[in-house]
Amino acid sequence: MKILGISAHYHDSAAALVVDGVPVCAVQEERLSRHKNDATFPLGAIEWCLDHAGLEPADLDAVVYYERSMRKFDRILTSALRTFPHSWRSFPSAMKNSLGEKVWVRGIISAHLGVPRTKILFTGHHHAHAAAAFFTAPTRRAAILTADGVGEWATLTVGHGERRASGGAELTLLREVRYPHSLGLLYSTFTAYFGFAVNEDEYKVMGLAAYGRPTMTDAVRKVIRRTPDGAFALDMKYFEYQTTAARSYSPRFIELFGPPRNPYEPIDLETAEGRRFADCAASVQHVLEETLVDMTGALHRETGLPDLCLAGGVALNGVANARILAESGFERVFVPSAPGDAGCALGAALYADRVYFGNPDRDVPDHPFWGPAVDGQELARAAREDDQIVEELDDAALIERIAGQLAAGRIVGWMEGASEFGPRALGHRSILAAPHAAEMRDRLNRDIKYREAFRPFAPVVPIETADRFFELPPGGARLARFMSGVFPVRPEWRDRLAAITHVDGSARLQTLERDMAPRLHALLEAYGRRTGIPVLLNTSFNVAGEPIVNRALEGYSTFRRCGIDALVAGPTLVVKRASSPARTLKEHVA
Ligand SMILES: [Fe+2]
Repeated sequence: MKILGISAHYHDSAAALVVDGVPVCAVQEERLSRHKNDATFPLGAIEWCLDHAGLEPADLDAVVYYERSMRKFDRILTSALRTFPHSWRSFPSAMKNSLGEKVWVRGIISAHLGVPRTKILFTGHHHAHAAAAFFTAPTRRAAILTADGVGEWATLTVGHGERRASGGAELTLLREVRYPHSLGLLYSTFTAYFGFAVNEDEYKVMGLAAYGRPTMTDAVRKVIRRTPDGAFALDMKYFEYQTTAARSYSPRFIELFGPPRNPYEPIDLETAEGRRFADCAASVQHVLEETLVDMTGALHRETGLPDLCLAGGVALNGVANARILAESGFERVFVPSAPGDAGCALGAALYADRVYFGNPDRDVPDHPFWGPAVDGQELARAAREDDQIVEELDDAALIERIAGQLAAGRIVGWMEGASEFGPRALGHRSILAAPHAAEMRDRLNRDIKYREAFRPFAPVVPIETADRFFELPPGGARLARFMSGVFPVRPEWRDRLAAITHVDGSARLQTLERDMAPRLHALLEAYGRRTGIPVLLNTSFNVAGEPIVNRALEGYSTFRRCGIDALVAGPTLVVKRASSPARTLKEHVA
């Protein structure tokens, strides 16, 4: 059975194809259209998925959309009417948005793909999140928690899934918290208050939190209180997102926390104002963690299961995930590579396959590489035409060369095979660098990523040696497989891993198993032989404001525009002319 999953019209559009119960490919529209967070109907992604699998739309047995658009419309309409007349400003735009795209999804899909309307199905939004987490995790039974901004009505659900030995599978969501009460929207409100971009920069709040102390948790607990049933409720007098699209927090919120940050002013942690924002970030982060730990702890006691699958945008919060692993009682926590809305394209297709059609359960390969493959020849052609130095090397020679470049302080663009599905670069579309000196972090922030100095970089380390450098609890390596947890760098290594150690001594590491990305694993080993430390800085291959590179040409264009010294795609190596002078790193790694 051939099932196409689609997510669209809200944040990050994507398409995924499941054939005979196993994913074949998945990609976000932004990687193809080159518009960051592209939310349009993912025609490019759909076309690529079908091409990749050699299918025509007529070959599809079903097309599954990642939410019930009529229920979502119902929520938008009901909330608008409930808050009328306060909502009169947002009402026309909300209606236009819904009427224009969301409600008529069946018609849009049918018109674009030419598939009969009877083949078009809809899943609940949180069912799609839950399926993306549970059906891709290597576990047969697990508790499930999903949390995001909002889907149709639900903002958080808890439930469980089972893949039976007899071949069937089930996924049950037991309870939900409903809009406007939302952990995701709480966090997004603070994201807006700090002057960052909502639905995009939530992770900056987490980064900023590490610089502060949670001195304002009492104030945060005024805006979110726990309810006797174990859930939570927001006090809506502090919020305005339910009445207007223009602003998410109310004047009462400002009375409580102080004036919002001017987005055009840098955050200066030397000033009282800068520290107030950091303390505020630490406080909301703390309350978020506390709430999630408590709810997952209750879910563990209720289900008695050792495994937990987490999804929804909130599952991108690696600090919270690590605390859930340490404190909820679950032994293993699985977060898919795409826990956000893009991942719902795959989740919706898997949900339809296993639950709606009742097809036999299948193991899903445990990796994130479902996107288009990079072509080394394409890079070689483009670079030669541009009069660059191009070499084509076998694996062993290439890996030794790159290890040498990295050890000499050079920055490497590393492209390999199929691109990652989800927001993290996990070794196929990465910028790699030596992780030792703080200057490397500053250089990357300044010359390549063009971003705030407080933003930390992440390390990648072979799973075999991760324990030597990082304090991983039992189950930690699993959580770090897709970079979903933040863990302490061992104190004795922090100085020698300064570029990837956050101010609080933590790192959002990726633990790499050889099977998942053999060439990167070999590169880490080669780098370790040279420096004694098989750890590399690994950041997504893009510059600020652009999606992660997809094709070799995009990698090449990025390489030409910023301070990357060498670029690899498959067997092809391009070294920039007039490369920055090599510097020995002896003083950092000795
Ligand atoms: Fe979502």
